[in-house]
Amino acid sequence: MTNELDSIVDSARQAFAGAATPAQLEDAKARFTGKAGRLTELMKGMAALSVEDKKSRGAAINQAKQAIEEALSARRRALADAELEAQLHAESLDVTLPGRMREPGGLHPVSRTMERIEQIFASMGFDVADGPEIESDWHSFTSLNNPPNHPARSMQDTFYVDLNGDDGIPYNLRPHTSPMQVRYAHAHIKKHRDAAEIPEIRVIAPGRTYRVDSDATHSPMFHQCEGLWLGRNVSFKDLKVVFTNFCRTFFESDDLALRFRPSFFPFTEPSAEIDIQFQSGPLAGRWLEVAGAGQVHPTVVRNMGLDPERYIGFAFGMGPDRLTMLRYGVNDLRLFFDGDIRFLRQFR
Ligand code: PHE
Repeated sequence: MTNELDSIVDSARQAFAGAATPAQLEDAKARFTGKAGRLTELMKGMAALSVEDKKSRGAAINQAKQAIEEALSARRRALADAELEAQLHAESLDVTLPGRMREPGGLHPVSRTMERIEQIFASMGFDVADGPEIESDWHSFTSLNNPPNHPARSMQDTFYVDLNGDDGIPYNLRPHTSPMQVRYAHAHIKKHRDAAEIPEIRVIAPGRTYRVDSDATHSPMFHQCEGLWLGRNVSFKDLKVVFTNFCRTFFESDDLALRFRPSFFPFTEPSAEIDIQFQSGPLAGRWLEVAGAGQVHPTVVRNMGLDPERYIGFAFGMGPDRLTMLRYGVNDLRLFFDGDIRFLRQFR
């Protein structure tokens, strides 16, 4: 009898040890202490015994049951531990791995140039204005003395937008910042409409511009900065002074020559291209074109709503991308817009 109980306890221990999962373990348990388990069957058989025998037999069976339950809970713990262990292993974190660095960012080189331009012109009393990149035909061309079908329109290969303006002519992605001349003048006049006399206009308008053009020195999106100074007695001489002062400050060099080369723009007369020449350094001796400029055409002054007999002055449009290339010695414009972090990191 005792032997039989011992052997039941032994086989329960073996069955528990063989259970690989909690579910298998519960199955094994049922075979011994469940409703039809081997130990349960033995207990049912006790009914026929004498009181004396019931006592000793009951005690022996209880002992065996206790032993089985101990084995069961030990195995339950072992399986739970193993499961936790496996889970921890699967989710393991190697705390010795080096961290992923977030590098500090920096301003884009062209943005740096824009900031410098704004600072330098602000120090000369210029306002800084911003305007739309999707422009009406009138602002981009007609108001600038460049009417429809005028041959000068082909100076710029313009992107047109599939949307017509008031005049039935499609909007365009502005091919230059010059539409800001008339836009700013209109806002200026409105602002000062109660004044006895409209004060002079002194403004720059930096921003994005667009042309159908793409190679190492042209990008379909590029930057320009317009300048306009219009007053009672503003002359070409003032343009020379302002622009020379700007270039010398921007390039931090007094050793810089400027040349005003005759040119043509419909909105200025006379017109010039402005070239600069470094006297030392890797670019020394070469004339480099940095801006178009000229005395604002009377027709444009009229389109601004001002009297060309009273308001006279100059405008210029320069290329901040070009200035950035010259300042940092970059030879391919596309590098500015590719977003290659190895290039941009150098300006951080
Ligand atoms: N808008 C001209 C261009 O894009 C530049 C310019 C601006 C010329 C102002 C004269 C006066 O080429």
